Amino acid sequence: PVGRPHDGIAAPRAILGATRANSAGMDLADEDRLEALAATLRAGVSGVGDAPRPVLNPADRRDIVGTVRDATPDAVQAAIAAAEAAASGWEATPAATRAAMLERAAELMEARMPALLGPIVREAGKSLPNAIAEVREAVDFLRYYAAESRGLAGRALGPVACIAPWNFPLAIFTGQVAAALAAGNTVLAKPAEEVPLIGGTAVSVLHEAGVPRDVLHLVLGDGTVGAALVADPRVQGVMFTGSTEVARLINRELATRLGRDGLPVPLVAETGGQNALVVDSSAQPEQVVADVLASAFDSAGQRCSALRLLCVQEEVAETVIAMLKGAMAELRIGQPDRLDTDVGPVISAEAKAGLLAHVEAMREAGHAVHALPLPPDCDHGHFVAPTLIEIDGVSALTREVFGPVLHVLRFRRDDMDALIRDIAATGYALTFGVHSRIDETIDRLVEAAPAGNIYVNRSIIGAVVGVQPFGGHGLSGTGPKAGGPLYLRRLMRSTPEARGA
Ligand code: SER
Repeated sequence: PVGRPHDGIAAPRAILGATRANSAGMDLADEDRLEALAATLRAGVSGVGDAPRPVLNPADRRDIVGTVRDATPDAVQAAIAAAEAAASGWEATPAATRAAMLERAAELMEARMPALLGPIVREAGKSLPNAIAEVREAVDFLRYYAAESRGLAGRALGPVACIAPWNFPLAIFTGQVAAALAAGNTVLAKPAEEVPLIGGTAVSVLHEAGVPRDVLHLVLGDGTVGAALVADPRVQGVMFTGSTEVARLINRELATRLGRDGLPVPLVAETGGQNALVVDSSAQPEQVVADVLASAFDSAGQRCSALRLLCVQEEVAETVIAMLKGAMAELRIGQPDRLDTDVGPVISAEAKAGLLAHVEAMREAGHAVHALPLPPDCDHGHFVAPTLIEIDGVSALTREVFGPVLHVLRFRRDDMDALIRDIAATGYALTFGVHSRIDETIDRLVEAAPAGNIYVNRSIIGAVVGVQPFGGHGLSGTGPKAGGPLYLRRLMRSTPEARGA
Protein backbone atom coordinates (compact mmCIF):
# COMPACT_ATOMS: atom_id res chain seq x y z
CA PRO A 1 0.00 0.00 0.00
CA VAL A 2 2.86 2.42 0.56
CA GLY A 3 3.22 4.68 -2.43
CA ARG A 4 -0.34 4.47 -3.65
CA PRO A 5 -1.89 7.79 -4.50
CA HIS A 6 -2.96 8.77 -1.05
CA ASP A 7 -4.78 11.60 0.61
CA GLY A 8 -4.35 13.98 -2.24
CA ILE A 9 -0.81 12.95 -3.16
CA ALA A 10 -2.05 12.96 -6.75
CA ALA A 11 -3.88 16.23 -6.14
CA PRO A 12 -4.81 18.64 -8.87
CA ARG A 13 -2.34 21.48 -9.12
CA ALA A 14 -2.40 25.22 -9.55
CA ILE A 15 -5.59 26.12 -7.78
CA LEU A 16 -3.94 28.47 -5.31
CA GLY A 17 -3.56 31.08 -7.99
CA ALA A 18 -2.07 31.37 -11.41
CA THR A 19 1.49 30.82 -10.24
CA ARG A 20 0.82 28.59 -7.25
CA ALA A 21 0.43 24.89 -6.72
CA ASN A 22 -0.39 22.69 -3.77
CA SER A 23 2.60 21.30 -1.90
CA ALA A 24 3.99 18.40 -3.90
CA GLY A 25 5.00 16.16 -1.01
CA MET A 26 7.35 13.35 -1.93
CA ASP A 27 7.28 10.32 -4.15
CA LEU A 28 6.99 7.24 -1.98
CA ALA A 29 7.67 4.94 -4.90
CA ASP A 30 11.35 5.86 -4.53
CA GLU A 31 12.74 2.98 -2.43
CA ASP A 32 15.94 4.74 -1.38
CA ARG A 33 14.03 7.75 -0.14
CA LEU A 34 11.68 5.48 1.77
CA GLU A 35 14.56 3.74 3.53
CA ALA A 36 16.12 7.07 4.45
CA LEU A 37 12.80 8.34 5.79
CA ALA A 38 12.23 5.19 7.80
CA ALA A 39 15.55 5.77 9.54
CA THR A 40 14.52 9.28 10.59
CA LEU A 41 11.17 8.32 12.05
CA ARG A 42 12.52 7.28 15.42
CA ALA A 43 14.62 10.40 15.83
CA GLY A 44 13.95 14.05 16.10
CA VAL A 45 11.77 14.87 19.10
CA SER A 46 13.37 16.36 22.14
CA GLY A 47 11.98 17.06 25.55
CA VAL A 48 11.73 20.59 26.85
CA GLY A 49 14.11 20.85 29.81
CA ASP A 50 12.76 19.55 33.09
CA ALA A 51 9.17 19.76 31.85
CA PRO A 52 6.93 17.61 33.97
CA ARG A 53 4.39 16.06 31.57
CA PRO A 54 5.56 13.13 29.46
CA VAL A 55 3.95 12.70 26.04
CA LEU A 56 3.60 9.02 25.20
CA ASN A 57 3.57 7.38 21.79
CA PRO A 58 0.03 6.02 21.28
CA ALA A 59 1.43 3.06 19.35
CA ASP A 60 3.77 2.10 22.20
CA ARG A 61 3.25 3.63 25.61
CA ARG A 62 6.77 2.68 26.67
CA ASP A 63 8.10 5.29 24.23
CA ILE A 64 8.26 8.77 25.77
CA VAL A 65 8.16 11.09 22.79
CA GLY A 66 9.01 14.18 24.79
CA THR A 67 8.01 16.16 27.84
CA VAL A 68 6.10 19.41 28.10
CA ARG A 69 5.15 22.08 30.58
CA ASP A 70 1.48 22.99 30.51
CA ALA A 71 0.44 26.60 30.99
CA THR A 72 -0.46 27.61 34.55
CA PRO A 73 -3.51 29.86 34.99
CA ASP A 74 -1.10 32.80 35.42
CA ALA A 75 0.72 31.93 32.23
CA VAL A 76 -2.59 31.83 30.34
CA GLN A 77 -3.45 35.29 31.69
CA ALA A 78 -0.03 36.63 30.74
CA ALA A 79 -0.35 35.25 27.20
CA ILE A 80 -3.77 36.84 26.73
CA ALA A 81 -2.51 40.17 28.06
CA ALA A 82 0.47 40.08 25.69
CA ALA A 83 -1.71 39.10 22.74
CA GLU A 84 -4.01 41.99 23.52
CA ALA A 85 -1.15 44.44 23.83
CA ALA A 86 0.25 43.31 20.47
CA ALA A 87 -3.11 43.40 18.65
CA SER A 88 -3.04 46.93 17.25
CA GLY A 89 0.56 46.66 16.06
CA TRP A 90 -0.11 43.42 14.21
CA GLU A 91 -3.29 44.76 12.68
CA ALA A 92 -1.34 47.81 11.48
CA THR A 93 1.32 45.59 9.88
CA PRO A 94 0.68 45.56 6.12
CA ALA A 95 -1.18 42.46 4.96
CA ALA A 96 1.60 41.79 2.46
CA THR A 97 4.19 41.72 5.25
CA ARG A 98 2.12 39.31 7.30
CA ALA A 99 1.49 37.16 4.23
CA ALA A 100 5.21 37.04 3.45
CA MET A 101 5.88 35.65 6.94
CA LEU A 102 3.32 32.87 6.41
CA GLU A 103 4.85 32.08 3.04
CA ARG A 104 8.28 31.91 4.63
CA ALA A 105 6.88 29.50 7.22
CA ALA A 106 5.48 27.38 4.37
CA GLU A 107 8.91 27.28 2.77
CA LEU A 108 10.54 26.24 6.04
CA MET A 109 7.99 23.50 6.70
CA GLU A 110 8.28 22.15 3.18
CA ALA A 111 12.06 22.15 3.35
CA ARG A 112 11.99 20.41 6.73
CA MET A 113 9.36 17.85 5.82
CA PRO A 114 11.53 14.80 6.65
CA ALA A 115 12.28 16.14 10.13
CA LEU A 116 8.62 16.88 10.83
CA LEU A 117 7.46 13.37 9.97
CA GLY A 118 9.00 11.57 12.96
CA PRO A 119 7.14 13.65 15.54
CA ILE A 120 3.84 13.25 13.69
CA VAL A 121 4.29 9.50 13.49
CA ARG A 122 5.40 9.13 17.11
CA GLU A 123 3.22 11.65 18.87
CA ALA A 124 0.00 11.17 16.87
CA GLY A 125 0.45 7.57 15.69
CA LYS A 126 0.07 8.51 12.04
CA SER A 127 1.34 6.41 9.17
CA LEU A 128 4.12 7.79 7.00
CA PRO A 129 1.85 8.68 4.04
CA ASN A 130 -0.56 10.37 6.46
CA ALA A 131 2.28 12.29 8.08
CA ILE A 132 3.47 13.50 4.67
CA ALA A 133 -0.08 14.56 3.84
CA GLU A 134 -0.17 16.53 7.10
CA VAL A 135 2.89 18.55 6.25
CA ARG A 136 1.60 19.19 2.75
CA GLU A 137 -1.74 20.38 4.07
CA ALA A 138 -0.11 22.66 6.63
CA VAL A 139 2.04 24.18 3.87
CA ASP A 140 -1.01 24.59 1.65
CA PHE A 141 -2.97 26.36 4.40
CA LEU A 142 -0.09 28.79 5.01
CA ARG A 143 0.17 29.65 1.32
CA TYR A 144 -3.54 29.73 0.70
CA TYR A 145 -4.45 32.08 3.55
CA ALA A 146 -1.43 34.25 2.80
CA ALA A 147 -2.59 34.62 -0.80
CA GLU A 148 -6.20 35.23 0.24
CA SER A 149 -5.24 37.90 2.75
CA ARG A 150 -3.37 40.06 0.25
CA GLY A 151 -6.50 41.39 -1.35
CA LEU A 152 -8.60 41.63 1.76
CA ALA A 153 -9.44 44.92 3.45
CA GLY A 154 -11.06 45.16 6.86
CA ARG A 155 -10.41 45.33 10.59
CA ALA A 156 -9.03 42.44 12.58
CA LEU A 157 -10.92 41.06 15.57
CA GLY A 158 -8.14 41.16 18.17
CA PRO A 159 -6.78 38.20 20.12
CA VAL A 160 -8.17 34.94 18.71
CA ALA A 161 -8.02 31.56 20.47
CA CYS A 162 -7.18 28.61 18.19
CA ILE A 163 -8.15 25.32 19.82
CA ALA A 164 -6.96 22.48 17.64
CA PRO A 165 -7.62 18.73 17.48
CA TRP A 166 -5.18 15.85 17.87
CA ASN A 167 -6.21 14.08 14.66
CA PHE A 168 -4.51 16.60 12.34
CA PRO A 169 -1.93 17.91 14.80
CA LEU A 170 0.05 19.86 12.23
CA ALA A 171 -2.38 20.59 9.39
CA ILE A 172 -5.45 21.81 11.24
CA PHE A 173 -3.43 23.53 13.96
CA THR A 174 -1.36 25.40 11.38
CA GLY A 175 -4.45 26.14 9.29
CA GLN A 176 -6.29 27.77 12.19
CA VAL A 177 -3.28 29.80 13.26
CA ALA A 178 -2.36 30.85 9.71
CA ALA A 179 -5.90 32.04 8.99
CA ALA A 180 -6.18 34.01 12.23
CA LEU A 181 -2.78 35.65 11.67
CA ALA A 182 -3.45 36.38 7.99
CA ALA A 183 -6.66 38.19 8.95
CA GLY A 184 -4.59 40.44 11.23
CA ASN A 185 -5.38 38.86 14.59
CA THR A 186 -3.01 37.98 17.38
CA VAL A 187 -3.24 34.33 18.39
CA LEU A 188 -3.44 32.13 21.46
CA ALA A 189 -2.70 28.73 19.97
CA LYS A 190 -3.69 25.67 21.97
CA PRO A 191 -2.78 22.34 20.39
CA ALA A 192 -4.67 19.31 21.65
CA GLU A 193 -3.36 18.00 24.94
CA GLU A 194 -2.20 14.76 23.23
CA VAL A 195 0.02 16.50 20.63
CA PRO A 196 1.79 19.47 22.22
CA LEU A 197 5.18 18.78 20.64
CA ILE A 198 3.95 19.06 17.06
CA GLY A 199 2.02 22.20 17.93
CA GLY A 200 5.12 23.64 19.56
CA THR A 201 7.16 22.87 16.46
CA ALA A 202 4.65 24.66 14.22
CA VAL A 203 4.72 27.74 16.44
CA SER A 204 8.54 27.77 16.43
CA VAL A 205 8.56 27.66 12.64
CA LEU A 206 6.15 30.61 12.48
CA HIS A 207 8.28 32.58 14.93
CA GLU A 208 11.38 31.77 12.91
CA ALA A 209 9.56 32.98 9.80
CA GLY A 210 9.12 36.38 11.40
CA VAL A 211 5.80 36.27 13.26
CA PRO A 212 6.58 38.20 16.47
CA ARG A 213 6.50 36.25 19.72
CA ASP A 214 3.97 38.58 21.31
CA VAL A 215 1.65 38.07 18.31
CA LEU A 216 1.58 34.26 18.44
CA HIS A 217 1.50 32.46 21.79
CA LEU A 218 1.71 28.72 22.34
CA VAL A 219 -0.60 27.78 25.21
CA LEU A 220 -0.35 24.13 26.24
CA GLY A 221 -2.74 22.18 28.38
CA ASP A 222 -6.01 20.32 28.63
CA GLY A 223 -9.60 21.45 28.28
CA THR A 224 -9.39 23.70 31.31
CA VAL A 225 -6.85 25.85 29.47
CA GLY A 226 -9.13 26.00 26.42
CA ALA A 227 -12.04 26.94 28.67
CA ALA A 228 -10.02 29.74 30.28
CA LEU A 229 -9.21 31.18 26.85
CA VAL A 230 -12.81 31.01 25.67
CA ALA A 231 -14.14 32.61 28.85
CA ASP A 232 -11.77 35.57 28.78
CA PRO A 233 -13.46 38.80 27.66
CA ARG A 234 -10.26 39.94 25.92
CA VAL A 235 -10.53 37.03 23.47
CA GLN A 236 -12.38 38.31 20.39
CA GLY A 237 -12.81 35.16 18.36
CA VAL A 238 -12.53 31.38 18.74
CA MET A 239 -11.54 28.75 16.21
CA PHE A 240 -12.26 25.23 17.33
CA THR A 241 -12.02 21.80 15.75
CA GLY A 242 -13.15 18.85 17.83
CA SER A 243 -16.32 17.33 19.20
CA THR A 244 -19.81 18.71 18.75
CA GLU A 245 -20.27 18.63 22.54
CA VAL A 246 -17.31 20.91 23.19
CA ALA A 247 -18.30 23.23 20.33
CA ARG A 248 -21.68 23.58 21.98
CA LEU A 249 -20.08 24.50 25.32
CA ILE A 250 -17.89 27.09 23.63
CA ASN A 251 -20.88 28.54 21.82
CA ARG A 252 -22.80 28.77 25.05
CA GLU A 253 -19.91 30.55 26.78
CA LEU A 254 -19.43 33.03 23.93
CA ALA A 255 -23.16 33.78 23.95
CA THR A 256 -22.75 35.35 27.39
CA ARG A 257 -20.80 38.35 26.08
CA LEU A 258 -20.29 40.62 23.10
CA GLY A 259 -17.02 41.43 21.37
CA ARG A 260 -15.46 44.87 21.60
CA ASP A 261 -17.31 45.85 18.41
CA GLY A 262 -20.60 45.19 20.22
CA LEU A 263 -21.30 42.13 18.08
CA PRO A 264 -21.31 38.42 18.99
CA VAL A 265 -17.82 36.93 19.31
CA PRO A 266 -17.29 34.82 16.18
CA LEU A 267 -16.86 31.07 16.57
CA VAL A 268 -15.56 28.96 13.72
CA ALA A 269 -16.25 25.37 14.76
CA GLU A 270 -15.52 22.25 12.75
CA THR A 271 -16.88 19.14 14.43
CA GLY A 272 -17.95 15.60 13.64
CA GLY A 273 -20.05 13.67 11.17
CA GLN A 274 -22.16 10.58 10.55
CA ASN A 275 -20.64 10.34 7.12
CA ALA A 276 -22.34 7.98 4.69
CA LEU A 277 -21.49 6.43 1.36
CA VAL A 278 -24.35 5.17 -0.80
CA VAL A 279 -23.50 2.38 -3.22
CA ASP A 280 -26.06 1.37 -5.84
CA SER A 281 -26.16 -1.81 -7.88
CA SER A 282 -24.43 -0.19 -10.86
CA ALA A 283 -21.32 0.72 -8.86
CA GLN A 284 -17.97 -0.82 -9.64
CA PRO A 285 -17.37 -3.16 -6.66
CA GLU A 286 -13.55 -3.19 -6.70
CA GLN A 287 -13.49 0.60 -6.70
CA VAL A 288 -16.09 0.69 -3.94
CA VAL A 289 -14.01 -1.60 -1.75
CA ALA A 290 -10.79 0.38 -2.27
CA ASP A 291 -12.55 3.66 -1.51
CA VAL A 292 -14.34 2.24 1.52
CA LEU A 293 -11.06 0.95 2.98
CA ALA A 294 -9.45 4.36 2.57
CA SER A 295 -12.49 6.27 3.82
CA ALA A 296 -13.19 4.13 6.89
CA PHE A 297 -9.80 2.85 8.03
CA ASP A 298 -7.15 5.28 6.86
CA SER A 299 -5.81 7.22 9.88
CA ALA A 300 -7.53 4.47 11.91
CA GLY A 301 -10.82 6.16 11.06
CA GLN A 302 -9.83 9.21 13.10
CA ARG A 303 -10.83 11.85 10.60
CA CYS A 304 -13.93 13.95 10.94
CA SER A 305 -14.47 13.17 7.26
CA ALA A 306 -14.17 9.38 7.74
CA LEU A 307 -16.83 6.96 6.59
CA ARG A 308 -19.11 5.79 9.41
CA LEU A 309 -22.02 4.31 7.43
CA LEU A 310 -21.77 2.29 4.26
CA CYS A 311 -25.16 1.85 2.55
CA VAL A 312 -25.24 -0.85 -0.12
CA GLN A 313 -28.16 -1.62 -2.40
CA GLU A 314 -29.41 -5.07 -1.46
CA GLU A 315 -28.84 -6.70 -4.87
CA VAL A 316 -25.07 -6.22 -4.56
CA ALA A 317 -24.72 -6.12 -0.78
CA GLU A 318 -23.64 -9.75 -0.37
CA THR A 319 -20.90 -9.39 -2.97
CA VAL A 320 -19.65 -6.01 -1.78
CA ILE A 321 -19.59 -7.00 1.90
CA ALA A 322 -17.79 -10.26 1.15
CA MET A 323 -15.20 -8.43 -0.94
CA LEU A 324 -14.83 -5.80 1.75
CA LYS A 325 -14.16 -8.44 4.41
CA GLY A 326 -11.58 -10.01 2.14
CA ALA A 327 -9.87 -6.69 1.59
CA MET A 328 -9.97 -5.86 5.30
CA ALA A 329 -8.14 -9.10 6.00
CA GLU A 330 -5.25 -7.74 3.94
CA LEU A 331 -4.88 -4.56 6.00
CA ARG A 332 -1.77 -4.48 8.10
CA ILE A 333 -2.42 -3.14 11.55
CA GLY A 334 0.54 -2.15 13.63
CA GLN A 335 3.35 0.23 14.41
CA PRO A 336 3.00 3.36 12.30
CA ASP A 337 6.75 3.70 11.84
CA ARG A 338 6.71 0.50 9.79
CA LEU A 339 6.42 1.35 6.14
CA ASP A 340 3.92 -1.41 5.39
CA THR A 341 1.45 -0.40 8.11
CA ASP A 342 -2.02 0.54 6.90
CA VAL A 343 -3.79 1.11 10.21
CA GLY A 344 -2.03 2.56 13.24
CA PRO A 345 -3.26 3.14 16.78
CA VAL A 346 -6.10 5.27 18.06
CA ILE A 347 -5.01 8.26 20.10
CA SER A 348 -5.58 7.20 23.70
CA ALA A 349 -6.68 4.54 26.14
CA GLU A 350 -9.91 6.45 26.60
CA ALA A 351 -10.61 6.50 22.85
CA LYS A 352 -9.90 2.79 22.65
CA ALA A 353 -12.17 1.98 25.58
CA GLY A 354 -15.01 4.00 24.04
CA LEU A 355 -14.68 2.27 20.69
CA LEU A 356 -14.56 -1.21 22.22
CA ALA A 357 -17.57 -0.41 24.42
CA HIS A 358 -19.51 0.62 21.32
CA VAL A 359 -18.60 -2.58 19.47
CA GLU A 360 -19.57 -4.69 22.49
CA ALA A 361 -22.88 -2.89 22.91
CA MET A 362 -23.69 -3.45 19.23
CA ARG A 363 -22.77 -7.12 19.51
CA GLU A 364 -24.98 -7.51 22.57
CA ALA A 365 -27.82 -5.79 20.72
CA GLY A 366 -27.61 -8.61 18.18
CA HIS A 367 -25.72 -6.92 15.33
CA ALA A 368 -23.27 -9.02 13.33
CA VAL A 369 -19.73 -7.83 14.07
CA HIS A 370 -16.70 -8.60 11.95
CA ALA A 371 -13.36 -7.56 13.48
CA LEU A 372 -9.80 -8.29 12.44
CA PRO A 373 -7.39 -9.91 14.90
CA LEU A 374 -4.67 -7.66 16.30
CA PRO A 375 -1.07 -8.69 15.67
CA PRO A 376 1.31 -9.03 18.66
CA ASP A 377 3.20 -5.78 18.04
CA CYS A 378 0.04 -3.96 19.13
CA ASP A 379 0.32 -5.08 22.76
CA HIS A 380 1.77 -1.85 24.14
CA GLY A 381 -0.31 0.66 22.22
CA HIS A 382 -3.89 1.82 21.87
CA PHE A 383 -4.95 -0.33 18.96
CA VAL A 384 -8.46 -1.09 17.80
CA ALA A 385 -8.97 -3.64 15.04
CA PRO A 386 -10.79 -2.45 11.91
CA THR A 387 -14.36 -3.56 12.52
CA LEU A 388 -17.50 -3.90 10.42
CA ILE A 389 -20.91 -3.83 12.12
CA GLU A 390 -24.07 -4.70 10.23
CA ILE A 391 -27.09 -2.56 11.08
CA ASP A 392 -30.67 -2.45 9.82
CA GLY A 393 -31.35 1.25 10.02
CA VAL A 394 -29.62 4.60 10.42
CA SER A 395 -31.25 4.97 13.83
CA ALA A 396 -28.83 2.36 15.20
CA LEU A 397 -26.21 5.13 15.06
CA THR A 398 -26.79 7.20 18.13
CA ARG A 399 -23.49 9.06 18.26
CA GLU A 400 -20.36 9.61 16.23
CA VAL A 401 -17.95 6.68 16.64
CA PHE A 402 -14.49 8.12 16.04
CA GLY A 403 -12.22 5.28 14.99
CA PRO A 404 -11.82 2.29 12.66
CA VAL A 405 -15.39 1.06 13.10
CA LEU A 406 -17.62 0.97 10.05
CA HIS A 407 -21.38 0.33 10.03
CA VAL A 408 -22.94 -1.27 6.99
CA LEU A 409 -26.56 -1.13 5.97
CA ARG A 410 -28.44 -2.81 3.09
CA PHE A 411 -31.13 -0.78 1.38
CA ARG A 412 -33.81 -1.34 -1.25
CA ARG A 413 -33.64 0.95 -4.25
CA ASP A 414 -37.22 2.07 -3.64
CA ASP A 415 -36.19 3.25 -0.17
CA MET A 416 -33.32 5.44 -1.28
CA ASP A 417 -35.09 8.74 -0.59
CA ALA A 418 -36.08 7.57 2.89
CA LEU A 419 -32.49 6.52 3.50
CA ILE A 420 -31.20 9.99 2.65
CA ARG A 421 -33.83 11.52 4.90
CA ASP A 422 -32.72 9.27 7.75
CA ILE A 423 -29.09 10.26 7.25
CA ALA A 424 -30.09 13.93 7.26
CA ALA A 425 -32.09 13.33 10.44
CA THR A 426 -28.90 12.54 12.35
CA GLY A 427 -28.32 16.31 12.23
CA TYR A 428 -24.73 15.94 11.04
CA ALA A 429 -23.76 17.16 7.60
CA LEU A 430 -20.06 16.80 6.88
CA THR A 431 -19.04 14.36 4.13
CA PHE A 432 -21.10 12.13 1.88
CA GLY A 433 -20.27 9.82 -1.00
CA VAL A 434 -22.01 8.18 -3.92
CA HIS A 435 -20.82 5.20 -5.91
CA SER A 436 -22.92 4.70 -9.01
CA ARG A 437 -22.58 4.55 -12.77
CA ILE A 438 -26.02 6.02 -13.37
CA ASP A 439 -25.92 9.79 -13.90
CA GLU A 440 -29.48 10.26 -12.77
CA THR A 441 -28.81 8.53 -9.43
CA ILE A 442 -25.66 10.54 -8.90
CA ASP A 443 -27.45 13.82 -9.62
CA ARG A 444 -30.31 12.92 -7.35
CA LEU A 445 -28.09 11.93 -4.43
CA VAL A 446 -25.75 14.87 -4.82
CA GLU A 447 -28.75 17.17 -4.79
CA ALA A 448 -30.19 15.61 -1.63
CA ALA A 449 -26.95 14.86 0.20
CA PRO A 450 -26.87 16.18 3.75
CA ALA A 451 -23.22 17.23 3.69
CA GLY A 452 -20.73 20.02 3.14
CA ASN A 453 -18.37 17.89 1.06
CA ILE A 454 -19.77 15.42 -1.45
CA TYR A 455 -17.67 12.89 -3.33
CA VAL A 456 -18.67 10.85 -6.38
CA ASN A 457 -17.02 7.54 -7.23
CA ARG A 458 -14.01 8.14 -5.00
CA SER A 459 -13.08 8.09 -1.32
CA ILE A 460 -14.73 10.63 0.98
CA ILE A 461 -11.55 11.79 2.73
CA GLY A 462 -8.60 13.98 1.91
CA ALA A 463 -10.04 17.34 0.87
CA VAL A 464 -7.31 19.46 -0.72
CA VAL A 465 -6.81 23.07 0.42
CA GLY A 466 -7.95 25.59 -2.18
CA VAL A 467 -9.35 22.81 -4.36
CA GLN A 468 -12.04 21.33 -2.12
CA PRO A 469 -12.85 23.79 0.67
CA PHE A 470 -13.76 21.60 3.63
CA GLY A 471 -16.51 21.79 6.23
CA GLY A 472 -20.09 20.98 7.06
CA HIS A 473 -23.14 22.43 8.70
CA GLY A 474 -25.71 21.44 11.31
CA LEU A 475 -24.02 19.43 14.07
CA SER A 476 -20.90 19.25 11.89
CA GLY A 477 -19.87 22.85 12.17
CA THR A 478 -20.48 26.53 11.70
CA GLY A 479 -18.69 27.08 8.42
CA PRO A 480 -17.15 28.80 6.58
CA LYS A 481 -15.18 26.04 4.93
CA ALA A 482 -11.50 25.73 5.71
CA GLY A 483 -9.20 26.24 2.75
CA GLY A 484 -11.90 28.20 0.95
CA PRO A 485 -12.46 31.83 -0.03
CA LEU A 486 -14.91 32.78 2.74
CA TYR A 487 -12.82 31.66 5.69
CA LEU A 488 -10.77 34.77 6.46
CA ARG A 489 -13.85 37.01 6.38
CA ARG A 490 -15.20 35.33 9.50
CA LEU A 491 -11.99 36.21 11.29
CA MET A 492 -12.39 39.92 10.64
CA ARG A 493 -14.77 42.43 12.12
CA SER A 494 -18.08 42.55 10.42
CA THR A 495 -18.43 46.02 8.92
CA PRO A 496 -21.82 47.73 8.63
CA GLU A 497 -21.66 47.10 4.84
CA ALA A 498 -20.98 43.41 5.34
CA ARG A 499 -23.92 43.24 7.72
CA GLY A 500 -26.12 44.84 5.11
CA ALA A 501 -26.69 47.89 7.30
N1 SER B 1 -9.83 17.62 5.85
C1 SER B 1 -9.77 16.25 6.22
C2 SER B 1 -10.27 15.36 5.17
O1 SER B 1 -10.81 15.83 4.19
C3 SER B 1 -10.56 15.98 7.46
O2 SER B 1 -10.32 16.87 8.46
O3 SER B 1 -10.13 14.18 5.29
